[in-house]
Amino acid sequence: MHELTVSPWASLAYLVAGVCFILALRGLSSPASSQRGNRFGIIGMTIAVVTTLVTHVPVRMNGCPLGIGRCAILDRPVVDWLTVIEILAAIGLGAAIGLVTARRIAMTAMPQLVAAFHSLVGLAAVLVGVAAYLNPQAFGISDLVVPMIGQPFAVIHPVSRIELGLGVAIGAITFSGSVIAFLKLNGNMGGKPIMLPGRHVINLALLAGILGLIAYFVTEQAPWVFWTIAILSFVIGFLLIVPIGGADMPVVVSMLNSYSGWAAAAMGFTLHNSAMIITGALVGSSGAILSYIMCRAMNRSFISVIAGGFGAVADTSGGGTAIDRPWKRGSAEDAAFLMSQAEQVIIVPGYGMAVAQAQHVLREMGDKLKAEGVRVKYAIHPVAGRMPGHMNVLLAEANVPYDDVFELEDINSEFAQTDVAFVIGANDVTNPAAKTDKTSPIYGMPVLDVEKAKTVLFIKRSMGGVGYAGVDNDLFYRDNTMMLLADAKKMVEDIVKALD
Ligand code: TAP
Repeated sequence: MHELTVSPWASLAYLVAGVCFILALRGLSSPASSQRGNRFGIIGMTIAVVTTLVTHVPVRMNGCPLGIGRCAILDRPVVDWLTVIEILAAIGLGAAIGLVTARRIAMTAMPQLVAAFHSLVGLAAVLVGVAAYLNPQAFGISDLVVPMIGQPFAVIHPVSRIELGLGVAIGAITFSGSVIAFLKLNGNMGGKPIMLPGRHVINLALLAGILGLIAYFVTEQAPWVFWTIAILSFVIGFLLIVPIGGADMPVVVSMLNSYSGWAAAAMGFTLHNSAMIITGALVGSSGAILSYIMCRAMNRSFISVIAGGFGAVADTSGGGTAIDRPWKRGSAEDAAFLMSQAEQVIIVPGYGMAVAQAQHVLREMGDKLKAEGVRVKYAIHPVAGRMPGHMNVLLAEANVPYDDVFELEDINSEFAQTDVAFVIGANDVTNPAAKTDKTSPIYGMPVLDVEKAKTVLFIKRSMGGVGYAGVDNDLFYRDNTMMLLADAKKMVEDIVKALD
């Protein structure tokens, strides 16, 4: 049976944990303070977990060994060590899996890892909801009714039914949506939007059905109502994410992050745990704000993305590549010569730089150019790479000075006065089709105006490879573009040698 009266010390500890989480979010808003932010997060989570464990030590009644009547001395609560060991073993196992995964995961696979973690949060919320529904007395969310005839039964409090219904629904949507996001980010499903016929009508009908059932659940706690809410929510999570195309996946990941927070907050009410409510609300609101910021950065409507690709155009641009068009190939020596003669070079990093892990040698190249009197700047697109801040993290890791790194809106006007735009493994974020081709899936997304530079040097491995959105890039075939076809790290190493 749960201890429902929370001790003032526990409340204070949860409050301190909540403040740590706020400081963590504050710290994570800039690469310079992100390590401090992470430390606050670790401290906050440790306080929350230890407080929960200490205030919820599992106990059992040490009943009379003979089982006859009450035994005054022995019938008292004792620590249930078996359950304590089970809990500690589960924590140890989870921590070990998390540690190994975090150490092994490649930086480029981070987005799918995040999507996988979100799916686990959603699943956990559903499982807590199921446990609370099946045994409401243990969660302290029901009254036991003892009828004149028949077995006693638990009647779940109406407010708890709403919390349960919402928590399970949001958790299930988060789970199935995150599984689809994982499959898309991991390349198991194509990045292109899958447009199901009549999807908006189906989604609206499902949403209305789920909300109606949650309302009905308040008056009728029958199993079919509870399980139908869960099943419909799993289905709508799947349907909402399937039609979202590659270029919009960043928004989806942060939106699912937000959903996972709200699912945790709803379950915090069921478990009477204020730390979960605070943390869930923080994750939910910060994820929603991030989604909104990303939608604005990508010129997408927030409502459209939430509604599952609402208003998305079907890609009729043909996609793929048009390798039969003429293009110019250059060498590392050509690139070194052009850049060493330049007044200003703007480096545009993208996903390919992350794949090649070329950030360190790139910084070396930048330093050499600076030593020759060239002004070197780095331009970061908000969705370059595969996760928010991906490029900032990599450049910070390579000790690129923060003052040399500029966001899209601060540097875009400078390309027209720049001698060389050095694009290293970026594709979609430089594609001019986003400005001109209404049929393109990336139409409307702001892009870096690299084509306005006198010369564009473009590193990628082959002319056949496309960016995440799967569309050709007209930039490759322009007169002022020189293609440097090689692995990014190898090419930059050769340029550094040529500069020497
Ligand atoms: P992409 O458009 O994905 O282009 C990557 C480029 O790198 C391709 O041209 C690829 O061509 C090249 N490349 C890959 N490996 C390479 C290597 N080892 N050496 C050299 N080049 C390599 O990347 P982007 O411009 O950064 O755009 C990001 C895209 O991902 C956007 O569509 C965005 O919406 C989406 N997305 C972003 C996020 C976040 S939050 N940032 C999350 C999910 C999806 P080759 O294969 O020919 O080498």
